[in-house]
Amino acid sequence: VYRIGIINVTGYIGMEAARLLAYHPEFRLTAVTGRSAAGKRLGEFLPHLGQFDLTITEEIEDSVDAVISALPHAASAEALLPHIQAGTPVADLSADFRLKSAETYAEWYGREHPAPQLLADAVYGLPELHRDDLRATKIIATPGCYPTASILALAPAMREGLIEDDVIVDAKSGISGAGRGLDLKYHYAEANESVSAYGLSGHRHQPEIGQELGLLREAPQPSVTFVPHLIPMTRGILATCYAKLRRDITLERLTALYEDAYATHPFTKVHASSPGTKLTYGTNLCLLHPTVDQRAGRLVVVAAIDNLVKGGAGQAIQCLNLVFGLPEETGLRLPAVYP
Ligand SMILES: NC(=O)c1ccc[n+]([C@@H]2O[C@H](COP(=O)([O-])OP(=O)(O)OC[C@H]3O[C@@H](n4cnc5c(N)ncnc54)[C@H](OP(=O)(O)O)[C@@H]3O)[C@@H](O)[C@H]2O)c1
Repeated sequence: VYRIGIINVTGYIGMEAARLLAYHPEFRLTAVTGRSAAGKRLGEFLPHLGQFDLTITEEIEDSVDAVISALPHAASAEALLPHIQAGTPVADLSADFRLKSAETYAEWYGREHPAPQLLADAVYGLPELHRDDLRATKIIATPGCYPTASILALAPAMREGLIEDDVIVDAKSGISGAGRGLDLKYHYAEANESVSAYGLSGHRHQPEIGQELGLLREAPQPSVTFVPHLIPMTRGILATCYAKLRRDITLERLTALYEDAYATHPFTKVHASSPGTKLTYGTNLCLLHPTVDQRAGRLVVVAAIDNLVKGGAGQAIQCLNLVFGLPEETGLRLPAVYP
């Protein structure tokens, strides 16, 4: 059994990682940190995690076999640095190790990268694209929630050269995607009964999507128009992705292409009809529904995930399973919470 520490258990992603670890037969949660809650019992601060006999500390004090960080960017790389230097495998849920270029990071995150020398060692934590590299890394750059859904939706078609290098991602997220911080636009009366687009001048997840789709074939990065929307639900992302087809393809062949692409991947599955996010609620699943708009000559793929699980904490655990040589689905085969 491996000992796991979570940095920043008090945010939505950190607490979801703790919840998921309760089901894991080979990982034991042995340390949790939190800034404002340091000194409190975990179950006192987060009653739904009362089964863990742990006190929240400011830093990870005892040795652990792996660290999951759920801090915001910049703070995350800084907190992980000593663990990385000690040779402990880490899964970072912030954006700090996702972009291969420190210049692109500075452009999108408005600050110099805190540890550019480590970028080459980090592996983008999407097992469907980087499984072998993940088995050999100690720095997992867990993808953003929107990029997880968008890249999985477009990767088989992009790799195959089926679509133009010009894609549109129209995505909706539940409110937990914005974290626990307070902001007027996330108040019940502001968000409920309303849907709105944001990030129209450029969202930080766009370069990640471009980077990963660009690695799939020898061509310049595709142009990606990414428009996120806020939806009044707690969890879930639905990404509807569009791209012009380069050649005709039947629905049967398209479906077979996607089924083959993910045949050996336990969590990413072609769904027979357009999936709702509810089917993924609390699970590590990504449900895909690829279709062809024959009249417009366009590929349309719908992807549904739970932003906190496959879009966050679950995917980090999936990657750690690979790092420790465990079956990828260990501890993560959970049915959805339904209805
Ligand atoms: N939410 C998602 O769906 C999602 C999905 C994938 C990845 N992520 C990433 O995961 C990370 C955590 O996201 P989240 O949604 O869980 O955030 P969150 O719920 O907003 O948690 C953030 C908490 O972090 C603490 N914090 C902020 N700055 C800190 C610092 N400099 N040092 C120590 N603690 C600090 C604050 O707690 P205090 O009360 O202690 O100040 C704050 O409440 C982010 O990097 C995010 O981009 C989020």
